[in-house]
Amino acid sequence: MKGMRNFIAISNIILFLPIITYAQNDEALPIYKNPAAPIEDRVNDLLGRMTTEEKIEQLSGGQLSIAGLTGLATLNAGYDTPDNERLGIPGLKFADGPRGVRFGKSTCFAVSASRAASWDRKLEENVGNAMGVETLAKARNCLLAPSINVVRHPGYGRAQETYGEDPFLLGEMGAAFINGAQKNVMADAKHYAANNIENTRQIVNVVIDERTLREVYLPHFKKAVQDAKVASVMSAYNRVNGLYCSENEHLLKDILKDEWGFDGFVVSDWFAFKIRPLRALEAGLDVEMPFALSYGLPLEIAEAIHRIPMESLDESVKRILRQKFRFGLFDIKRKVDADIHKSEEHKKLAYLSSLEGITLLKNNNNVLPLNRNTIKTIAVVGKYANTARLGDGGSSAVTPEYTVSPYEGIKNRAGNGVQVLLSEGGDAAAVASKADVTVVIAALTPQDEGEFLFISGGDRANLRLHEEDEQLIEAACKSSKKCVVVMEAGSAIIVEPWIDKADGIVMAWYPGQEGGNAIADVLFGNYNPSGKLPVTFGKSEDQYPPQLRNSLRATYGYYHGYRYIDKNNLEPRYEFGYGLSYTTFDYSNMRIDKLSAAKNDTINVSFDLTNSGEVDGNEVVQLYVGFESSKIDRSVKELKGFEKVAVAPGETKRVTIPIKVEDLAYYNVDKKAWEVENITYSVYIGASSKDIRLKGEFSVN
Ligand code: BGC
Repeated sequence: MKGMRNFIAISNIILFLPIITYAQNDEALPIYKNPAAPIEDRVNDLLGRMTTEEKIEQLSGGQLSIAGLTGLATLNAGYDTPDNERLGIPGLKFADGPRGVRFGKSTCFAVSASRAASWDRKLEENVGNAMGVETLAKARNCLLAPSINVVRHPGYGRAQETYGEDPFLLGEMGAAFINGAQKNVMADAKHYAANNIENTRQIVNVVIDERTLREVYLPHFKKAVQDAKVASVMSAYNRVNGLYCSENEHLLKDILKDEWGFDGFVVSDWFAFKIRPLRALEAGLDVEMPFALSYGLPLEIAEAIHRIPMESLDESVKRILRQKFRFGLFDIKRKVDADIHKSEEHKKLAYLSSLEGITLLKNNNNVLPLNRNTIKTIAVVGKYANTARLGDGGSSAVTPEYTVSPYEGIKNRAGNGVQVLLSEGGDAAAVASKADVTVVIAALTPQDEGEFLFISGGDRANLRLHEEDEQLIEAACKSSKKCVVVMEAGSAIIVEPWIDKADGIVMAWYPGQEGGNAIADVLFGNYNPSGKLPVTFGKSEDQYPPQLRNSLRATYGYYHGYRYIDKNNLEPRYEFGYGLSYTTFDYSNMRIDKLSAAKNDTINVSFDLTNSGEVDGNEVVQLYVGFESSKIDRSVKELKGFEKVAVAPGETKRVTIPIKVEDLAYYNVDKKAWEVENITYSVYIGASSKDIRLKGEFSVN
């Protein structure tokens, strides 16, 4: 009997073994766990296995808790959506940008405004890549950068976090950043849309006509989506035409998802208003952060009473899962050294991000570069002469391992024969009188401009330097033989009150952890400055449209920045695209390859660029298109291309800049369509938006 039982047992095992093994294989590898399966198959397979509660859980940060709130304050928690252990779905793990990763210690780059002033796409891609690598090193998977809001007015509190006033420049730099960051982690283009005022950011209703919205405030987001394939988009706090961005179906669904084909997810800005959860879900808000307040329980209740819009819920979950698969959250375990931010490579990149953005505004009698043969004593003065001003203290704040102040940088680079004096206080004028040249450091702080955090930041009260800095410039420049003012700020400064006192003016933005070294290298001519302004520096506030910083209702017009300047025939102090060099560049021999083009053509504009001076230089060449023969109200000209070109003394380089004819379209509101006019277009090649060196034209038929 015993033998018989054994036989049956063994034969059973043999009989069922293949079935068991097969079943195990099947269990071991559902489609969603198979890295070789197409992403959409994995998404659908996983979605089919999820309960409604599990789906709802995907849509927000954790439950509101004391621990979560403390975590928010220390920046180490509250930024995640939960992991699903039953199915093995990793949560989203966010970290802030965009001047570095705000999580523990990391590399502090120059702010985005400075990187915009570099006009260097490759550099921006490298910076994005480095931040992406550091995000991975911290076991995070989504970087909350880039910020691509238009600097509609230079008083915008978060101007430093973005790439200036022009939609084309914003789009190019934003896309470059995303391309770099997304080699490693998901990026997030923020804040969508028309988020250009800080003080009332939570409530302001931006009233904007459809054409202005499409042509001025959205093109860079479209580029982030279509060209750079950004994984996520953050909806802004403010309202647009009455509706909060997180509930704004026109923005989220009609434009972003349906028209542009965005296949990633929308995350709400932190604690953004969502009065009606179901409406937000149906309007296209996929993820609520940092806690499950509108989603979570309210959606579970809706489910219990059979009111949940299942299609919208599934749609949102799919969008989240799709990006999780795309970025390898289920499959790849790439290990990055936790100390990568200390590497020489990242330090060097921080230095370059500062160096290339530094913009030389004034250089009377070639006060710069400082000549080590004639200068024996340099005074570095100002309240922040020996402090590294890194920029805002809000969500973009970064804690680096070290910083280099302007004074330290100048000391580092001065060499043995040069004495460097420092004054951070009231004796600055006396110290300046002992020097051959005085460098005045005049900086703004997070109290002056930054993210609106109730106790600090917000929009600027005016566009001038601190009064004590203006007085210091007067006094120090009077007592010193020569004087150079170095400004650190996130956007335009009105320099009129003291401009005549200074021999030289340098815009250093908030230059990051290596800022002092970069400033010194520009002052001593170890590097020939190549920055060009991404924002208009007006002579007075009335050269800009109204700031509207405390408005609850803000009506935006079509024109701002250089387009406003051009339209109103104004002379700003330093125009958009302006920046001096220690060498000179000549432009010649322009050729447009198609004088008559079709709507889907790309036109190539080429010309010779010669370095006619004595030192190496990088020139940012700009291409603007004019619409003089248009039948409708259009800008005098708009930036449609640029290149940064390195040219050796005496060398001539042929530069080619493409123009996509479809980029010349305007938005026809009646037809709800983009339309390229059949007219003659002017082509302007310039060293800035005012300094036009070559002109031509072509027509579209
Ligand atoms: C900011 C976002 C930021 C988020 C998380 C918000 O207040 O507007 O830019 O990503 O906080 O820190």
